Amino acid sequence: MSRTPALYNPVVLDHFLNPRNVGDVPRADGVGEAGRPDCGDTLRMSLKIEEGRIVEARFRANGCAAAIASSSMATELVRGRTLEEARRFSNEEVVAALGGLPRAKIQCSVLASQALQAALEDHQKRRPAARRRGRTTR
Ligand code: FES
Repeated sequence: MSRTPALYNPVVLDHFLNPRNVGDVPRADGVGEAGRPDCGDTLRMSLKIEEGRIVEARFRANGCAAAIASSSMATELVRGRTLEEARRFSNEEVVAALGGLPRAKIQCSVLASQALQAALEDHQKRRPAARRRGRTTR
């Protein structure tokens, strides 16, 4: 029997081996990308947004087990959130939901929150007409 401690807990392994929400949202309302120059890993997240709420989130990752598990968990966590709630989303929440990551892999979880924020910014840029509707004109 091996005495080597497992690097990842069962929740992380499950999200790595059976990632949820892989792919691209068709006709996405926002797409964001993030990357880590030090390791070369990248992540793209796409969102479907209806009435100010995320109804679907999908991702494509070229990354390590921690990055894939974090992205999978993040897409599960943000579904149903308002845009304001999603803007406050952080990688700490992902790490907590995964039951923790090895200290050296915490940085890998940041990709998911960075790609989410980029997707939210992209959504904002795509909706200039909606922003203008909020302004009054004379
Ligand atoms: Fe690159 Fe984990 S080693 S994201």
